Amino acid sequence: MKKLFNILLILIVSFPLYIRADEGMWIPLFLKRNEAHMRSLGMRITAEDIYSVNQNSLKDAIVLFGRGCTGEVISSKGLLMTNHHCGYSQIQSHSSVEQDYLSNGFWAQNLGEELPNPGLTVSFLIYMDDVTEKVLAGVQNDMTEAQRNAVIEENVKKITDEATKDTHYEATVKPFYNGNQFFLFVNEVFKDVRLVGAPPSSIGKFGGDTDNWMWPRHTGDFSLFRIYAGPDNKPADYSPDNVPYIPRKSFPISIKGVEEGDFTFVYGFPGSTDQYATSFQVDLVKNIENPIAIRMRDIRLRIIDEGMKADPEIRIQYAAKHANIANGWKKWIGENRGLTRLNTIENKRAQEELFVNWAKATPAREARYGGLISMYERVYAQQRKANESMRYLLEAGLGSEIIRFAYGFNNLMRISKIKSTPQSEIDTQVSRLKASLTGYFKNYNCGVDRNLFVHTMKAYYLSFSDESMPAILKKDVSKFHQDFEKYADFIFEKSMFTNEEKLTNFLNNYTKKKFKTIANDPAFKLAKSIFDNYFNNIYPVLEAYEPVLDSLNRVYMQGLMEFQPDRNFYPDANLTLRVTYGNVDDYLPADAIEYRYFTTIDGIFEKESLGYDDYEVHPRLRELYQNRDFGRYGKEGILPVCFIAKNHTTGGNSGSPVINADGHLIGINFDRNWEGTMSDLNYDPDQCRNISLDMRYVLFIIDKFAGATNLLQEIEIIE
Ligand code: ARG
Ligand code: GLU
Repeated sequence: MKKLFNILLILIVSFPLYIRADEGMWIPLFLKRNEAHMRSLGMRITAEDIYSVNQNSLKDAIVLFGRGCTGEVISSKGLLMTNHHCGYSQIQSHSSVEQDYLSNGFWAQNLGEELPNPGLTVSFLIYMDDVTEKVLAGVQNDMTEAQRNAVIEENVKKITDEATKDTHYEATVKPFYNGNQFFLFVNEVFKDVRLVGAPPSSIGKFGGDTDNWMWPRHTGDFSLFRIYAGPDNKPADYSPDNVPYIPRKSFPISIKGVEEGDFTFVYGFPGSTDQYATSFQVDLVKNIENPIAIRMRDIRLRIIDEGMKADPEIRIQYAAKHANIANGWKKWIGENRGLTRLNTIENKRAQEELFVNWAKATPAREARYGGLISMYERVYAQQRKANESMRYLLEAGLGSEIIRFAYGFNNLMRISKIKSTPQSEIDTQVSRLKASLTGYFKNYNCGVDRNLFVHTMKAYYLSFSDESMPAILKKDVSKFHQDFEKYADFIFEKSMFTNEEKLTNFLNNYTKKKFKTIANDPAFKLAKSIFDNYFNNIYPVLEAYEPVLDSLNRVYMQGLMEFQPDRNFYPDANLTLRVTYGNVDDYLPADAIEYRYFTTIDGIFEKESLGYDDYEVHPRLRELYQNRDFGRYGKEGILPVCFIAKNHTTGGNSGSPVINADGHLIGINFDRNWEGTMSDLNYDPDQCRNISLDMRYVLFIIDKFAGATNLLQEIEIIE
């Protein structure tokens, strides 16, 4: 009876946690395993066309763009496409009041007008390899995590040295499946990447934070860059003599259109997911971390909004900060709703119970896996408080910028106190700090930050129920009788960290002895107390549990694989190249509502009529719209803008190519739908959709809106 009950429970409970069509971020090297499935969904090319060690394949047209986006090569002259929000800081850095590329867009008329971006790199994957055996050589089961890591580190060094010997390549080894497997990645990194084109923000950021994470969507979220190489076509530092890179592969663009049910795949660099998290981890995220972060960001966004509304200068200064804070805030709200809807915690608990029972069946299993789940429970209980404090620290203690900024002077203070510190070291620190001032104060408003301080510092203070509070915070707050307005006035009047001129003066005339001015600054004193509190109370706990969790996660992963031998496990995202695939599809977000799979330019003007700032329309776009001047990109008076499909994507997939059954580029990935943002922890094929910009809208903007015929000529278009 018990057994039958268990089988029933497996069917009911664990099914939703199994991999179904659409879910998964697959390793390109092993794509042969998915090939039959992909073809059954409509794919007409082969796994070898997508990733090959022997010949050029689609992977040779894909790059990791900067530190966390994806881009794809779309011409034989190294023309590269990514999202507008991925190129945002580059576009911003070339903009000024006189030449505002953010507002007006930018289109280089020829190679000479393309703009270099110091520090920006793109990396191609040359090849990847399973190096698990080599990495784990010498690792014993009875080693501590620290011993294990030391052996691994040494092995990895050997492997990467060998892989890059006599080449200009770079190599990394990354853990997969919670440290059970290891893969080597050999990359070619280009360092001269120039800005070629960007639509105005009213197109590239249309909908702004109002529409962020939402479907239906009308954002023209793309920008264009070009990879430059030395005369030998190899990576080179920026030089005016560099030439456009000739890629091994580039994407042709199909404007044949996207229909419901069409096969698509996304090929890019998903950043991080936790698909195999236990119920305890999901509980921590859902019930502690997300709610704290959401509440604190509610406060911060309200204050920044007020400032931005009141003053156009603040609006520009805080635009990027606001977008950043709002991006996480909105995602976590969606994530928590999704986790509630899916009963993720309850389902995971039930699965863990089955796992425990399964482990009991043989002595060997019992020995290895028997205590695992209860160990998890204990560990999460014991570090719960530290995690909670950490979240309050990040979102409230550091919720006003002055705290983090002031603490940036800690190093200078510390080395100044030491008699033997050479003057050269002091000078280095001073000039480093001086160099940071302009950038910091350019986007800083004292009044906004003061208000942030009042409300976030109060929330931070109230988050302590006991004596573990930072000493200075406790002392100061009691001195001001819990009046945070007065406390803020004191800090912002007395501190030098609110004033660029004062700080510049201070640093220009800095001598070792002046460390006391830093040490006695009220903002610095508070900041130091807050950071000391972190180093004394939070960090040691989290640091102690990290290896324990690493080891638990690794063994649990092994256990799950034995427990569910028929399940096709895919590794969590870790910013390595992956393939995810699924069909174009509508969805039903709520009772009686159906969302179609594509949007059109008409929607842009429907939204404009609502009158929000985020829905501003460029006059040139209006003109094209009014004349229905869509060229070959529209069909029967309709110009598509975005579409959705069931690709399992996450942060980092921004800018990824969305590819059709024939291997042609049909879209560029830029977001997920709100109902589906829990997919980092629990994917649901009913609700999870990736949002792509339709290449027909991209080409319409390049061609009709910008008239950039020079670019069109180098792109291969399939009609
Ligand atoms: N939600 C998208 C991604 O996570 C786009 C973010 C940029 N856009 C914005 N309105 N903040 O990262
Ligand atoms: N906008 C995200 C990015 O920057 C992609 C959206 C997602 O998280 O799926 O990578």
